[in-house]
Amino acid sequence: MSDTTVPATGHRLTAPPVTGYARFLSTGSYRPERVVPNSEIVDRIDSSDQWIRERSGIESRRFARPDESVVDMAEAASRVALERAGLTGADIDVVLVATVTHPYQTPSAATLLAHRLGATPAAAFDISAACAGFCYGVALANDMIRAGTARHVLLVGVEKLTDFLDLDDRGSAFIFGDGAGAVVVGPSDTPGIGPTVWGSDGAQWDAIVNKQSWVEYRDSGHEEWPALKMAGQTVFRWAVWQMSPVAQKALDAAGVAIGDLGAFIPHQANVRIIDAMVKQMGLPEHVPVSRDIATSGNTSAASVPLAMDRMLAEGEAKSGDLALLIGFGAGLAYAAQVVELP
Ligand code: UT7
Repeated sequence: MSDTTVPATGHRLTAPPVTGYARFLSTGSYRPERVVPNSEIVDRIDSSDQWIRERSGIESRRFARPDESVVDMAEAASRVALERAGLTGADIDVVLVATVTHPYQTPSAATLLAHRLGATPAAAFDISAACAGFCYGVALANDMIRAGTARHVLLVGVEKLTDFLDLDDRGSAFIFGDGAGAVVVGPSDTPGIGPTVWGSDGAQWDAIVNKQSWVEYRDSGHEEWPALKMAGQTVFRWAVWQMSPVAQKALDAAGVAIGDLGAFIPHQANVRIIDAMVKQMGLPEHVPVSRDIATSGNTSAASVPLAMDRMLAEGEAKSGDLALLIGFGAGLAYAAQVVELP
């Protein structure tokens, strides 16, 4: 072929022009009923309520019931978000579920969720980006809507981390919790989602990782359940030093001055990480910061949408405000963007 843009047949592809924008239409969340205070965790890891509060900011977290699944929790959060958007499952073109705790290698949690919501035949798949998963999903939903691949996207961040929690592991037993947060993303005349700044660092692949693979688990005669383990200090340092510049880049890419934010909603990993980011970024005092971690723990992919839904519900942030979102964790993967709150 002499002309690389025109195939020998002379036929060209047609594709819709990128014309519109996208925005969050609604949020929804689901928090399991059972509140688990630090006092229930401390004995098995020789810790104390005071140590956990001082080192992580966590006072309590929610644990799902044994019979409550990732899909159950995702469904509950999604139904709230759909109702608030004035839509039904039938209006949804794509279902995205960010999770690392759906206990089936295949099929995805998203296909079952789509079926339960009557969102068939929506395209549906899971996103495996751990604590960055929700913000990865925001990037995908935005791009799909802008490119015309979808009109309405349902995006859920959901985790049942208790299924992969070693309650005897001092480094992680007190950190994690369960829950689900959802958003409906739809078309908009004005930009409602800013450019995503994202990336990963696989050199630190083993900083937060299952103790072994499913294959190793099988071959060892089920010796040790593949619970999550975390090199806490390594991740802590990475998050504190690497994530503020990422957040700043997301602000710059969106053309938003830090003082114009109506909310800062970072991944709820550790309140000390949140406080360090606030300081490094020079976030003005008038910008509310989510500290949902105190009563939710670290819910990985669910943490940002849970925190966002709570800020809106409690009037800490309001519809139309600009919020800076950032997710970061296992991978190590990260993503940040500025969004207009629904
Ligand atoms: O969501 C994905 C991203 N995840 C994160 O961003 C988590 C990042 N990491 C962290 O949040 C923190 O590293 C932890 C909260 C997990 C741990 O806090 P830390 O300040 O890094 O604790 P450390 O591991 O440096 O341990 C400090 C001390 C040690 O004692 P010495 O050596 O100072 O005497 C530990 O033995 O605290 C001791 N320690 C504990 N004490 C009571 C470690 N774990 C515990 C515990 N209870 N559970």
